[in-house]
Amino acid sequence: MTTRSAAISGIGYATPRHKVTNAMLSEFMDTSDQWIQERTGIKERRWARCGFEALGETSNLEMALVAARAALQNAGTAPQELDAIIYATITPDRELPGNAARLGVELGARADIPAYEVRNHCSGFLYGLQIGNALISAARCERVLVVGMELQSTGLNLCTAGRNTAVLFGDGGGAVVLQARSTPGILRIKLASDGRYAEKLGLEAPGFKRGYYLKTEDFCGEQPGVSPRMEGKLIFKMASLRMPQVVRTVLGECGFSIEDLSIIIPHQANQRILDMLSHELEGRVEIFSNIASYGNTTAGSIPLALAEAVAQGKVKPGQLVCLTSFGAGFSWGAALCRW
Ligand code: COA
Repeated sequence: MTTRSAAISGIGYATPRHKVTNAMLSEFMDTSDQWIQERTGIKERRWARCGFEALGETSNLEMALVAARAALQNAGTAPQELDAIIYATITPDRELPGNAARLGVELGARADIPAYEVRNHCSGFLYGLQIGNALISAARCERVLVVGMELQSTGLNLCTAGRNTAVLFGDGGGAVVLQARSTPGILRIKLASDGRYAEKLGLEAPGFKRGYYLKTEDFCGEQPGVSPRMEGKLIFKMASLRMPQVVRTVLGECGFSIEDLSIIIPHQANQRILDMLSHELEGRVEIFSNIASYGNTTAGSIPLALAEAVAQGKVKPGQLVCLTSFGAGFSWGAALCRW
């Protein structure tokens, strides 16, 4: 019997051109290059905007278009050949509607295909990948575009009160084309979530439950409701626990061990979390990192890291690659792929 599965046949990425160094951040808030590098491994990030100042790129959609066109070209796929578009982001250009259908129009995709909006934060790309993989495996689609992209710089609190989150996040992301194959590409995707921790990382506002979607006080005070809040230490602990666990689970379910893996492409949240991942896996596999250059780009982080790893020749045909994430929700997961 022929197996039908999805494989990544093309990949592209996009980031704003403007680099924001740690030293630049110390002009807005009480922080330092030394603190940020020691605690997070981040040296700089790309930002499309800084407060009200536009630094270059105008929107999440604009960057997704660049990444998607590169992925389509890389795959040798025409936009009209796409059977679905899946767009993972927590920072769409507008709250309603999201960016997915607009991306289809801008690319020149057909109108008779679905455009999915996925908002699972740092795990968004893996959640999108699972939808794409399922559509292809069930023979509903031949070619699917999966995008993970963020423009977060407009939502950060640049005062000292927001320094524990503002220094972490950056803009950018990537896109992949999934294509039906008779030999396995994506071998298994394992996703998980635990809503008990919903309050530990997120925004207070806006929200439909609050009487008004937005209130004047949401913009006031040292910790405005519209800026991200998080319990950094808890997230650190849980990310360091869940990512190695889920990597072992997907490997085990497919009958592989850590030694069979060529590389892990993890969500880039903090270099110390990546070091913990390496430690938990006893240093037996390479863990790709580009956090020094981009910070945490949420749903954009895995496709951006994967695109760079491929460009650097770190992911080669035939190799076993594992993608893994952890983020708000909490949600986490891993995808095992034969490249
Ligand atoms: N610059 C300078 N000092 C800072 C700072 C910054 N950017 N951010 C926080 N601090 C200060 C704190 O105010 C605190 O000061 P105090 O001791 O006087 O109260 C001190 O540094 C220690 O803060 P703490 O939050 O305990 O530091 P930490 O070692 O836990 O590191 C994070 C903070 C955010 C780097 C770390 O917890 C982390 O990376 N967590 C995971 C976050 C994450 O990945 N989020 C995304 C989810 S995918």
